[in-house]
Amino acid sequence: MTRVTRKTVTVLFCDWVGSTALGEVLDAESVRGVQDAFAAEASGAVERHGGAVEKFIGDAMMAVFGVPLAHEDDALRAVRAAVELRDAVAALNVRLERQYGVRLAVRTGVSSGEAVAGDPTTGQALITGDVVNSAQWLEEAAGAGEILIGEITYRLVRDAVVVESVEEPASARRLLGVLTEAPAFVRRLDAPLVDRERELGPLRASFERVRGAGPGHFVTVFGTAGVGKSRLVNELLVQAAEHATVLEGRCLPYGEGITFFPLRSVVRQAAAIDAETPPEAARSRIAELVADDPSAATVADHLAATVGFSDAPVSTEETFWAVRRLLESLARQRPLVLSFDDLQWAEETFLDLVEYLGEQTREVPFLLVCMARPELLDERPTWGGEDPSTAWLRLEPLSPADSEELIDNLLAEGEVAEDAKRALAEAAEGNPLYLEEILGMLVDDGTLRQEDGRWRIGDLLSVRVPPTIEALIAARLDRLPPEERSVVDTAAVMGKWFRGRGLAELTGDPALPARLDALTRKELIRLEPRSWGEPAYEFRHILIQDVAYRSLPKGRRADVHERFALWVTETYGARVREVEEIVGYHLEQAYRTRAELGRDDLRLAVRAASVLASAGRRALNRGDAPAATNLLQRSVALPGADAHARLGRMLDLARALRERGDLGGAENVLEEAKAAAAELEDRRLEARMSVERCYLRFFTDPRAWTEEALRTADGAIETLEEFGDDVGLADAWILVALYEYARCRIAEMERALDPALRHARRAGDPRQISTLRNAMTRAALVGPTPVERAIARCVEIASEQPQDRSLEAVTLGVRALLEAMRGQFEEARLLYGRSHSILDELGQYRLLAAMRTYAGTAELLAADWLAAERELRASADALGEIGDQANLSTTTAYLADALERLGRDDEAFELTLVSEETASEQDAASQVLWRLARASLHAKRGQLAEAQALALDADRLAAETDALNLQGDAALRLGEVLLASALRDEAAAAMQRAVERYEAKGNLVSAAAARRALASSFPGARA
Ligand SMILES: Nc1ncnc2c1ncn2[C@@H]1O[C@H](COP(=O)(O)OP(=O)(O)OP(=O)(O)O)[C@@H](O)[C@H]1O
Ligand SMILES: [Mg+2]
Repeated sequence: MTRVTRKTVTVLFCDWVGSTALGEVLDAESVRGVQDAFAAEASGAVERHGGAVEKFIGDAMMAVFGVPLAHEDDALRAVRAAVELRDAVAALNVRLERQYGVRLAVRTGVSSGEAVAGDPTTGQALITGDVVNSAQWLEEAAGAGEILIGEITYRLVRDAVVVESVEEPASARRLLGVLTEAPAFVRRLDAPLVDRERELGPLRASFERVRGAGPGHFVTVFGTAGVGKSRLVNELLVQAAEHATVLEGRCLPYGEGITFFPLRSVVRQAAAIDAETPPEAARSRIAELVADDPSAATVADHLAATVGFSDAPVSTEETFWAVRRLLESLARQRPLVLSFDDLQWAEETFLDLVEYLGEQTREVPFLLVCMARPELLDERPTWGGEDPSTAWLRLEPLSPADSEELIDNLLAEGEVAEDAKRALAEAAEGNPLYLEEILGMLVDDGTLRQEDGRWRIGDLLSVRVPPTIEALIAARLDRLPPEERSVVDTAAVMGKWFRGRGLAELTGDPALPARLDALTRKELIRLEPRSWGEPAYEFRHILIQDVAYRSLPKGRRADVHERFALWVTETYGARVREVEEIVGYHLEQAYRTRAELGRDDLRLAVRAASVLASAGRRALNRGDAPAATNLLQRSVALPGADAHARLGRMLDLARALRERGDLGGAENVLEEAKAAAAELEDRRLEARMSVERCYLRFFTDPRAWTEEALRTADGAIETLEEFGDDVGLADAWILVALYEYARCRIAEMERALDPALRHARRAGDPRQISTLRNAMTRAALVGPTPVERAIARCVEIASEQPQDRSLEAVTLGVRALLEAMRGQFEEARLLYGRSHSILDELGQYRLLAAMRTYAGTAELLAADWLAAERELRASADALGEIGDQANLSTTTAYLADALERLGRDDEAFELTLVSEETASEQDAASQVLWRLARASLHAKRGQLAEAQALALDADRLAAETDALNLQGDAALRLGEVLLASALRDEAAAAMQRAVERYEAKGNLVSAAAARRALASSFPGARA
């Protein structure tokens, strides 16, 4: 199997300047000699740092770091190689000058980026990708002797290099030098340590035991890269330093003679040797350290040789022995703590030394602390042995709360918005290094920025994996055996969670269980704790999945997506509807990935669109408008679908958008769809579109709506009857019902609901039936049905479609208002609270706003003006934002009432203007209510003529409806205004009428209020 992968690599391009000039002064044979010398230096530098020379082209060389295996520090390796080559050429020049009287000057470009790596066994080019061009381009832009590095390379090595900016290209930097031994990017120690008490406790206890002259102790801290091993141990070392000698060594990932490198720094620290100390002095200082040892001189000789102060031959056994004697000497003088970091990179011999020291130095106060990534266990499954005085500590990710605390600490200057914090903590999944790097990247690219002293986050979806983290993970994945790697890659296409059965099918790997065990042990995946039945796995970190996914060549990625979709479809058989979202997603990705390769597989696009549409429609039917919008939008965005089918989907999409409260978006979709339908001369769809558009217009432009609605509905009904389109007919009749509802002619409305229900039943469309039930509930609320019966009706309606949560929410909201009418305010609050939380959860913001208007009205009945204001204002704000003018005009009129009660008359007056301006002529409730609110305000100011005129108008308008409460409200208010005008008889009659209307409705609260008004003004009156 050829293995082509996509990965981030670093490319080094270098060339000499003026080689033609060289040809003019030198014989061809000598030029050849120079070329060879340069080539030898160049490939030597590259290979010493683990890179691969791709090719020499004339005087130029191209080398790649990261193939066949990626390392986390590939970019740093490339940069080091470039500097080494530049220095080597300087040395070479001395010789050339002497021999030929010429000098070379080298220009270098280094660039990192994504590339496709070929299979090295087939003799293909190592890599293909833009990064090659950009490295060459940087090389050409560099001056003689200069090294230019690109943007991503810089990000990857920023803390290890000295650079300056250049004019052109602006994203590049001129490399001045590399710090020796520096890691590519510095870990931050500035933020306070978060938590880790649970791990620090045992470490401290070990130290205390050792210090109290207990036996020596050997601890290894295991954990994945960046989880905080070094930081944790550093905390211990700082505290221990007060009472003990503390020495530290760390292993390097590569290099010549690195076996005892960690030991070298330990000896240097212990004996206070620095770069200036002459070798002989170094040896004698070591001898002084072990002065109490009878074999002091031999120990010092061996150690000096081991760490490079003499060339005397020394065997491994002698080294081990000498190190042990040194440590024992030191520990006898003062308790000793020795730490070795990054043991996963240690050479075999060094690991042997560490284990030997752990076992052999038990008699003295000596604590040995090692740190390693879990990879160490691949090399040494029995690391640390079984000895009781050795211990293991496994460092797990930080908890979400701790991650959030760390975010606060890292972004110290300024508060962090809660949602930003949560999103960041989630992205990093408890790995502090990931968190630091993600934060750094987001701040750099402006996704995370401060506004008025608060950190806010932009679009997290566009966040990439920081290159530093990508390099870490890619290096881990590259080290997997090919079979395990193939499992990881395939699983990454399936998702963050995956099940063994699907994976077995896709990989065809008979040894899959063993591979999954190995990957679990290597901490790349874990068993999903909540899984039941067949075990499910998840990637330990979303970034691991992401890096693995992107490493897979697009061609194969698309194949796996498609095969997985097929497999799921077959496995689920008749139950495939349950997993349509998943199938649709994979088909869509298969199509899109292939399209990126220039292969437009329309057959796939068509299938994907149809499955997504079906999933979208189902989401719409269960009232999940946000999901429906997402799915339908993706469906119509795919090419190739049958034009008629696509139009039907656009209609569904418009509905989903309307239900979400995106009325503008819905209108745009309909506009486009309607034009397309006209072009197709599809009269049926056109009729359905115009009904939907008219429905939408009711909310967005109620003033222009009126008669047009009826005309549209009538026309559509005619056309649709021709086609026998029950769904369309039901919609058209719903439009008629809505029209009558707006006019508050509930009997007429109910007459239109009959044929609507008949057609909807015949079409078997649950969404329509739900809409109709919703309408019936409203009819029961507004119309002449008495409260008790209306409540029973709500309960009954909800029970007819128990799984329909948005219908449930509407019935609860309506019941709340009905309960308030009979004085059950606590019950009302309970009911509307439940209603709101359901709608909020469903993302049905338009319905939520409508229900809050009911809640506000219920609070008006309860005479809790502040609560009424709260609900009505929230509703009005939402309606305004959504663009639902129809409901807004009613809500603002009620809100004006609430504010008038609170004595905020000016605000109230303003609101009556808003209501008047937005209300449709046909909208009886709004027309009555704004007049009533304004009449009260006028009356308060003593403008009685105006007040009377408005109240009379309102009363007349209300009389044309069969909305009993509305009639009661109008009559009561008219009574109050007339009373103020000293028209006592008329006033009494109007109030009397109000009592009757309210009582007919069963609105006990308003009836009592009207009766009180009557009794206080007309003590003798009977009501
Ligand atoms: N508990 C913590 N509180 C605050 N910062 C932490 C904590 N743990 C780790 N960090 C920070 O996270 C970064 C990564 O931690 P550290 O370098 O210790 O990881 P590591 O496990 O040693 O990784 P590697 O395997 O790459 O060496 C560091 O900048 C460190 O300061
Ligand atoms: Mg570390």
